[in-house]
Amino acid sequence: MAILVTGGAGYIGSHTCVELLEADYEVVVVDNYYNSVPEVLNRVEKITGKKLKSYDCDIRDKEGLRKVFSENKIDAVIHFAGLKAVGESTKLPLTYYDNNISGSVVLFEIMNEFNCKKIVFSSSATVYGNNPIPYKEDMPTGDVSSPYGRTKHFIEKILEDVYASDNEWSISLLRYFNPIGAHSSGLIGEDPNGIPNNLMPYISRVAIGKLPQLTVFGGDYDTKDGTCIRDYIHVVDLAKAHLCAVAKIMDSTGCEAYNIGNGVGYSVLDIIHAFEKASGKALNYVIGDRRAGDLPAFYADAAKANTELNWHAELGIDKMCEDTWNFQTKNPDGIK
Ligand code: NAD
Ligand code: UFG
Repeated sequence: MAILVTGGAGYIGSHTCVELLEADYEVVVVDNYYNSVPEVLNRVEKITGKKLKSYDCDIRDKEGLRKVFSENKIDAVIHFAGLKAVGESTKLPLTYYDNNISGSVVLFEIMNEFNCKKIVFSSSATVYGNNPIPYKEDMPTGDVSSPYGRTKHFIEKILEDVYASDNEWSISLLRYFNPIGAHSSGLIGEDPNGIPNNLMPYISRVAIGKLPQLTVFGGDYDTKDGTCIRDYIHVVDLAKAHLCAVAKIMDSTGCEAYNIGNGVGYSVLDIIHAFEKASGKALNYVIGDRRAGDLPAFYADAAKANTELNWHAELGIDKMCEDTWNFQTKNPDGIK
């Protein structure tokens, strides 16, 4: 069975390609390498000892995608390609709407044209906005605070409409919580360009001496230690969730959302201390001001994914930190 992975050279996409190849799927990657490098795919092949096929193609390029679907009999799509920086999206909303939403529409059109109606979409816990915690799939969504979050919400709605118009579609909306960690080989991991926006890559660059100090965004939240609570999930557990979702969409139709998280909340200070333990280094950090738009706490109720996808997170916070540090020390200058 052949799976098209859009954004397959990215952080979550590359880990998912490893799991797909190890499970004997054929993998076809489409990526424009806006936020990744082709070397990542060589490393995926090195880890698995298997080959994948890749196209340097933007998902907004209809002719390019038509070529991919003409040359390969695609059974299902896992759609990761997108821009994901929350702060940047407030400054460049049109860029985000064009890349994420227009790109997705072009992809869905080409899927329709080739009668490929099975898709797993990378959504985000951000669609829940300010709901009570833990988040459950049947809560109202869409009260989101950034253009990035709105692209996720809109694409979910577009896919719901696609299914409503044609019940042959089978769609899985995976709402990721906070993916961190890396493959245990240390060959692939999270490798953002420039100064990281997210907590874990920032911590690991401070630990390796590439950045001087971490600022903890707010120490006065109404949480156990005053810092924000999130549901961190190992990227390999997250990658495996995609295989469970592919199995599900292969033998059913519908459009279903699933939370992909551990169901456990950790504070920023919990993560710092776990990372210090994993790396054996004291981390230089200060408590600073709150970051605009941050919610105090959220985590998943993952019961639906547990029962309907038969997926369970297996890797804990210590392993997430160990694997991040292993990747960072093996790739101090990132993946070139
Ligand atoms: P990433 O940036 O590492 O990977 C995205 C990949 O898509 C990159 O390789 C990039 O080059 C490619 N891409 C972007 N626009 C493209 C386009 N128009 N055409 C072709 N390729 C394109 O990001 P990631 O962390 O792996 O995230 C993957 C998906 O999961 C994204 O859709 C993201 O919004 C979503 N998500 C991520 C997180 C997270 O914290 N990492 C949380 C929730 C949801
Ligand atoms: N944080 C710091 N210092 C930093 C970076 C982050 O204290 O330098 C804190 C944040 O305030 C937050 C926590 O660490 O409390 C996690 O922040 P991240 O930026 O790593 O992640 P977010 O929870 O803000 O957002 C992430 C993704 C979004 C996604 C969301 C929900 O970046 O794309 O999870 O899935 F929408």
